[in-house]
Amino acid sequence: MLYPLSILSLVLLFLIHLTHGSSHQKHSHDSQHHLSLDTDSISFETRAHWMRKANAALTELASPCPFAAFGTVIVNHTATSEEFPHGKLICYSVNQNQREGNPTLHGEISGINNCSKILTSASGPYTLTPKEALIAFHSLTLYTNAEPCPMCASAIRWSGFKECIFGTSISTLISKGWSQIDLSAEEVFEEAGALPGATKLMGGVLSNETDPWFSWQFDSEISCPKGCARSGKEGEGVCEPVGEEGKSKL
Ligand SMILES: *[C@@H]1O[C@H](CO)[C@@H](O)[C@H](O)[C@H]1NC(C)=O
Ligand SMILES: *[C@@H]1O[C@H](CO)[C@@H](O)[C@H](O)[C@H]1NC(C)=O
Ligand SMILES: *[C@@H]1O[C@H](CO)[C@@H](O)[C@H](O)[C@H]1NC(C)=O
Repeated sequence: MLYPLSILSLVLLFLIHLTHGSSHQKHSHDSQHHLSLDTDSISFETRAHWMRKANAALTELASPCPFAAFGTVIVNHTATSEEFPHGKLICYSVNQNQREGNPTLHGEISGINNCSKILTSASGPYTLTPKEALIAFHSLTLYTNAEPCPMCASAIRWSGFKECIFGTSISTLISKGWSQIDLSAEEVFEEAGALPGATKLMGGVLSNETDPWFSWQFDSEISCPKGCARSGKEGEGVCEPVGEEGKSKL
């Protein structure tokens, strides 16, 4: 009886070693990329300030209830000063698929394109060379009101952003009826280890205020964002701006 028992305990020890070893490895791997609100060096107030700007970019550039309500803000937190207590805005943008007829112009890609233009513009405030602009991205933070899809997460990693902060998660989008590629930004970042630098990732920031932008599109029971109403007779249609407030300016 002793013999099989000691085999069993050896097997158990081995299994304990395996599970302990792999969870330890995962933890140290994750900590390269992760930020959590508890240990964040930047205040929640500042994070919330910029997440609200990502939402506000929609109202400013599209409408108070755009169907593809994805907004992005790109910020220099190194430039925090008395004048810019939350850091300095470089640029913002929103999803422009419909406007430009370009299926790759998700909010994040649109934001990166806009910042490149602004950073290198000869008449702009930065006048960087293209090479300097590429380097500048390494010190910037991208805020997006929804988790980057694999295309955008890849673009963000290729850009070498210092941080990527998002509100609504891909799993929440899917649960609300959005068609998505079911791969988290965290998974994309984990597979991007061969790229230089590391982009810190933090999700769920102010999701109580980002979620409502994505909640009404596939559920007619959900009321429209402020400033909008259902267009159909029975209240079945999409949300559309009511009154002057909702005019698109982009
Ligand atoms: C960000 O701010 C720092 C500190 O003011 C500055 O040195 C750096 O050039 C800024 N980056 C960009 C892209 O403006
Ligand atoms: C680019 O960002 C600026 C703010 O820096 C904004 O005024 C402008 O509308 C944005 N353009 C696009 C195309 O998103
Ligand atoms: C959303 O939650 C944050 C705390 O996480 C809070 O500060 C904020 O006021 C909430 N927003 C609304 C509209 O309730």
